Amino acid sequence: MKIILQTLALPLQCFLFFLALLSHTSIAQTYRNITLGSSLTASNDNASWTSPSGDFAFGFQQIGVEGFLLAVWFDKIPEKTIVWSANPSNPLQRGSTVQLTKDGQFLLNDPNGLRIWSAPFSGILSYAAMLDNGNFILASQDSVNLWETFDNPTDTILPTQTLSQGTQLVARISETNYSNGRFLLVMRKNGNLVLCTTSFPTNQENYVYWSTQTVGSGFQVVFNQSGYIFLTAKNNTILNYLSTAASPSDFYQIAVLEYDGVFRHSVYPKSSGSSTNRWSAAWSTVAPIPPNICLSIMSDTGSGACGFNSYCSLGSDQRPTCQCPPGYTIIDPNDELSGCRPTSVSQSCDEPSQDADLFDIREMPNTDWPLSDFAHYTQVTEDWCRGVCLGDCLCAVAIFRDGNCWKKKLPLSNGRVDASVGGKALIKVPKENSTLQGPNSNNIDHSTLILTGSVLLGGSVFLNIVLLLATVRAYFYFSKRRSKVLQPYTVTLGMSLQNFTYMELEHSTNGFKEELGQGAFGTVYKGELPNKKGDFVAVKKLEKLVKEGEREFETEVLAIGRTNHKNLVQLLGFCNEGQHRLLVYEFMSNRSLADFLFGNPRFNWCTRVQIAFGVSRGLCYLHEGCSTQTIHCDIKPQNILLDDSFNAKISDFGLAKLLSTNQTQTTTGIRGTKGYVAPEWFKNMPITIKVDVYSYGILLLELLFCRKNFEPMSSDENSVILADWAYDCYKNKRLSLLIENDEDALHDMKRLERFVMVALWCIQEDPSLRPTMRKVTQMLEGAVEVSAPPDPSSFISSI
Ligand SMILES: *[C@@H]1O[C@H](CO)[C@@H](O)[C@H](O)[C@H]1NC(C)=O
Ligand SMILES: *[C@@H]1O[C@H](CO)[C@@H](O)[C@H](O)[C@H]1NC(C)=O
Ligand SMILES: *[C@@H]1O[C@H](CO)[C@@H](O)[C@H](O)[C@H]1NC(C)=O
Ligand SMILES: *[C@@H]1O[C@H](CO)[C@@H](O)[C@H](O)[C@H]1NC(C)=O
Ligand SMILES: *[C@@H]1O[C@H](CO)[C@@H](O)[C@H](O)[C@H]1NC(C)=O
Ligand SMILES: *[C@@H]1O[C@H](CO)[C@@H](O)[C@H](O)[C@H]1NC(C)=O
Repeated sequence: MKIILQTLALPLQCFLFFLALLSHTSIAQTYRNITLGSSLTASNDNASWTSPSGDFAFGFQQIGVEGFLLAVWFDKIPEKTIVWSANPSNPLQRGSTVQLTKDGQFLLNDPNGLRIWSAPFSGILSYAAMLDNGNFILASQDSVNLWETFDNPTDTILPTQTLSQGTQLVARISETNYSNGRFLLVMRKNGNLVLCTTSFPTNQENYVYWSTQTVGSGFQVVFNQSGYIFLTAKNNTILNYLSTAASPSDFYQIAVLEYDGVFRHSVYPKSSGSSTNRWSAAWSTVAPIPPNICLSIMSDTGSGACGFNSYCSLGSDQRPTCQCPPGYTIIDPNDELSGCRPTSVSQSCDEPSQDADLFDIREMPNTDWPLSDFAHYTQVTEDWCRGVCLGDCLCAVAIFRDGNCWKKKLPLSNGRVDASVGGKALIKVPKENSTLQGPNSNNIDHSTLILTGSVLLGGSVFLNIVLLLATVRAYFYFSKRRSKVLQPYTVTLGMSLQNFTYMELEHSTNGFKEELGQGAFGTVYKGELPNKKGDFVAVKKLEKLVKEGEREFETEVLAIGRTNHKNLVQLLGFCNEGQHRLLVYEFMSNRSLADFLFGNPRFNWCTRVQIAFGVSRGLCYLHEGCSTQTIHCDIKPQNILLDDSFNAKISDFGLAKLLSTNQTQTTTGIRGTKGYVAPEWFKNMPITIKVDVYSYGILLLELLFCRKNFEPMSSDENSVILADWAYDCYKNKRLSLLIENDEDALHDMKRLERFVMVALWCIQEDPSLRPTMRKVTQMLEGAVEVSAPPDPSSFISSI
């Protein structure tokens, strides 16, 4: 990498010099009029109306063997990149015509003269013009635009174009098929800008995978002349940047919702024909949204970023690739997102055990198909997991991770391969010489279909690097300092969320009578399940939620419901009715750790140790057990609930996305509770899972010594802050001072010392010094050595 950068250093400087030199060009338009009575015919002579500069042309462009599109395209680029089309889903026949009739209509007719389409406008049409910014307009006598392509975008926007409320871009099906595809970019009437999947083949919205969260404030998307793309409020304030990759004027620019669901800002050098051109002529992406689509989509319905049974991975060019797992082959080679089918017949369910010998397991590391599971086993071995899938005719794939085994059924959805996924997929395939193999069985290795041949594929390494820098800059605009709660996905057999009505919950809580507690998200009441006397539940009434998006609420809730671990409080159901949002959790008879920890008599040592283990395992699961990370952000005794046998269960996880935007997005809005929040919240540092490690460290100390971290009324000045005091005692080898007359703990001095050391590591000021929760768990268990922790106190006193 270093070498490449060095060899590129020279042109990079030139390029930046260029950037500095160039001033914004005037957007004044010159054009020639296309007069009434003019027409074009779809034929091989490529007739078109060009803009005065020749950059853009309007006319018929041939696609495929026999079809034509009425389109606007970049005319000086050899690929003739299409930026707008009138009839993407119905290619036109040869001989079709477009006419500016003498009586002032703008018509598209088939070869027999039958009308296919006409531009809708009111007023008297006087002329048409192809402008130099790529806008094709129909204008009246007094040069008022009656209709323009910029107001009716397909999948592309150009500099000087805006997207106003109620407009959308529709991705095409594939690189070469311009029909409506599977993704939308919608500037909603409510002000939110979203990227979503469709319920293909309709254009109905299915799953929102990216949004600016600007309900009530967003007004329009602007792509300005210098290459910035941003969302503004009505008063022109910029709310959100989609791209800040400013480009000099000798680059063509385009922003397209491409068929793979990524909205890309790309550039192309204008001087591609000249000999002085340093850059290979190709579109290069400067800002992709979202940065990794493979991990962005986790939809209950629909197939995810790739087709069913397929998996998505991000290539080195930052573009997603859809591939079929071993034993599967692509359904439609012309449609990369069409999904994969098994190449052979499936296992017989008549005699599965006998049949099992005919099947084998292929491994794929870091691979998962979240949400397709029908059974979940914990604390099992990989061999057991293989065996249980081979022996089950319905099991197509098993996922093994951290002693968990999930059986998956067809069709598999939301497939992804990424280092952050962890674990491995165990894919059931027929044995090589098995008689079950179908005709295509030679395809058993990865029937790859890479999303290649892209017109917009970056060709120039140099340009890509320049633009990568710009992308990184753009990316920072999007990284908000807030907890990233993406959907975790595990499902336990038979565990499905119940959808309650508000009446039912009002009834079951006796009119919200018995309050169990107040949390950051609302009040919790005790309830009893409608038809099950004695089956208690905790009903949380959520407040301060995002106004918009019932779907988003339900998606989040479903994700929380799927997060299932014995050290996490299980969500049982929810209510989403009118303005009411409630969550129904399992009831914890012994309430929270806070109710016991600081009281008298204290918990015995053994219980405290068990609780410390429980919380660390639950957190480890939130951080690593799911395919995507959940940062809890508010670990404290009040959020650790205890069941009948005093098992610790973490509550209140996964809710951050539901909070109203002004609670999660402000840079000053610290989430968490005083005394437990990590120092990076107060500094200009990214918030990572290490904030939970910090809070856990404080909690662990409190758990070990049965007192609050901060006790201003303490008689001894040295012991006001537990963390400081614990470090002093640890350093002076006088930990026994801290536990006074706790006999059990005194007899377990080795463990106590180890736990204190772990806690001191957890509360290091520098997040990178703190261990991961996995390491913490291992250290607590004694599975790995704990080294001597440095002094964390320098910072603690500063809170
Ligand atoms: C029209 O365009 C096609 C493909 O770009 C090209 O092969 C053909 O020669 C062009 N015809 C004319 C008359 O320019
Ligand atoms: C185009 O037509 C309009 C209306 O007839 C006229 O005012 C204008 O001057 C024409 N422009 C050019 C460049 O011919
Ligand atoms: C494009 O895809 C649609 C839907 O799958 C299909 O009906 C149509 O035939 C395709 N068009 C071309 C030109 O391949
Ligand atoms: C413009 O509108 C936004 C959103 O509605 C608001 O936050 C901002 O304060 C306004 N700015 C000015 C200068 O009025
Ligand atoms: C485009 O927007 C950027 C960012 O707001 C601004 O700095 C630049 O001056 C704008 N360019 C034009 C031509 O308006
Ligand atoms: C497949 O071939 C191997 C070695 O030739 C043999 O041991 C095995 O029994 C065969 N399996 C089946 C299912 O025929």
